Order: sequence, then C-alpha cells, then structure tokens
Amino acid sequence: MNIPVSLPPSVAFLNGHFTAEDMIAKITHCGDLVAVFHDQTAWQSIPPETPIYQVEMLKSPQGEGELFVGTTHLNPGRVGDEFYMTRGHFHQRREQGEVYLGLRGSGLLLLQNEQGEARLEQVSPGSVHIIPGFTAHRLINTGTEVLSALAVWPTIAGHDYAALAQGFALRVVLQDGNIQAKEVQNG
Ligand code: F6R
Ligand code: MN
Repeated sequence: MNIPVSLPPSVAFLNGHFTAEDMIAKITHCGDLVAVFHDQTAWQSIPPETPIYQVEMLKSPQGEGELFVGTTHLNPGRVGDEFYMTRGHFHQRREQGEVYLGLRGSGLLLLQNEQGEARLEQVSPGSVHIIPGFTAHRLINTGTEVLSALAVWPTIAGHDYAALAQGFALRVVLQDGNIQAKEVQNG
C-alpha cells in the first residue's frame, strides 16, 4: 500500500519567507501608524507610503483550537529618534498567548501586562519568546537589517489595538549613539 506523503509549507530560516501555495501578505506603511511614534513632526516628514513592516501568513483553518503561523518582517529605521516598530496589541481574547521565534536581524520584543508593567526581551536569530496571555506585544527593530520573527498564535485570539491607543509604557530610542529604553507616562 502506498501511503501518500504531502509536502508541507516551509520557512527559510535565513530570512523568514514562506514557501507555500497559499499565502496572505499585508504591508503596514508609515502613514498607517497614526499616533504610534512620539515625534509627530518627524513622522509627518516621512512619506506615508514608506513601508515599515510586512506580515506574511500561511492560510490555515480557523476556529477553536486552530493556529495561525505568520512572519513579521520589520524594516530598520527610525522616526526621529525612535526605532521602527509594529503597532502592538493585546489579543482580543486576553487569555490567549503566542510564541515568537527570532529568525533574522536584531531587536526587542516589548511586553506589557494589563497593569501597565513593561519589559523587554532581546530578539535575535533563534530566540524563542513565550508571550503569556493578558500581555500586549510589539516588535522593535534596533538593528541595521530587516528584523524577521515567526509567530504562532490561536486563530481565535483576535487583536485589540484600541486598548493601547495611549501607547506602551516604554519607548526605545537612539540617544547619544546608544539604544535606550525610556519610561513614559502616556506612551
Ligand atoms: C499576531 C502577532 C503578529 C503581529 C505582527 C504585526 O497575533 O502578534 O503576527 O500581528 O507582528 O503587529 P501588529 O499586529 O501589532 O501590527
Ligand atoms: Mn499577537
């Protein structure tokens, strides 16, 4: 009897790109990130069509118990003194966690609980990040190449961006040539 063996999608460890028949890709441009960076004048001086990050996702079944797999590719750069970053979110279903795996580049994962306490994890090729439930998350590219990280999360998790409209409690900036994390009052 011949048992059929199918070829699953694959991810290139060097750059995080998927090889798959079906994929979804979404680019977030600078102009989409309204009120995300603290220096509004610097943000306005960047052409709104400038790509900041791209998420590529495999198509997967959705529902209770199902998982999404996607890679975020975050470009290097700054808006004023603040490093490029993703918008960041809580999951709509707060209890749902996520795993990030660093693949390329170097940066930080900003994590913040519902009490507003923030912390940072170093992201580098091979770094594994267990994002617990009830924890907002944002990637920050502090390096000079694209930061790529693969993520796996429950399809039922959903995204809540509005809860962080005031921003996170930490901002990561280049100050006097150094990468600095600054505590801020209102994001
Ligand atoms: C999914 C997840 C990532 C992010 C991606 C873009 O739950 O955490 O796939 O969605 O890094 O960031 P946001 O969604 O904050 O624009
Ligand atoms: Mn998430």
